[in-house]
Amino acid sequence: MDVTALIETVSRTKSQAGELTPQQIIDRLSHALTEFTTSARNQDFAAAYQPSGNYTRLLLNSPDDPYQVVLVFWAPGMGSPIHDHADTIGAVSALAGETKEIKYGVRTVGEAVELTEVSKFTIAPGRIAPILPENDQQLHLMVNEAPHWAATVHVYLTAIHRYRQYEAVPGGAFRTAETSLWFDEYAVGRTMPTGASS
Ligand SMILES: [Fe+2]
Repeated sequence: MDVTALIETVSRTKSQAGELTPQQIIDRLSHALTEFTTSARNQDFAAAYQPSGNYTRLLLNSPDDPYQVVLVFWAPGMGSPIHDHADTIGAVSALAGETKEIKYGVRTVGEAVELTEVSKFTIAPGRIAPILPENDQQLHLMVNEAPHWAATVHVYLTAIHRYRQYEAVPGGAFRTAETSLWFDEYAVGRTMPTGASS
């Protein structure tokens, strides 16, 4: 599956989302991401790509679309803070290398925000981490612990513009910081190989 077909699948899934259960949406996104991330041509592209920074977000579809398909490049040792996804449904996989994912459940007690680690997963080509609005399926961190670069693919059924990061405060609780989602590079579907893929 090439990038154009992946974007079309996300677009179609979004337009049909009203008739689908969240799990059916995840199943469709996962199936498409499995085909996309196990394509040798797409993997070769990610391995050869020279990102502009140690953590680089490349938007693959149009910024005007109501959904997002994002390629993220992680230098060795790079990780994200714990963050939510503005309650969107989505899915994450990898084209190159692998990243560790830790999901968190969140509980607000008065002013304090408490997070509990609920699962660990290794995101790799053909291995999909779902994102759902439910507590314990929405917050996560990702980190590339390997000594080589990783490239991950993120599909968000609803485009994320603002989301929250969770920062540890003394005493074991967290505070939230609202943040804008930015992109370092834009491809609008042109950068990646298109046409029948291996
Ligand atoms: Fe994320």
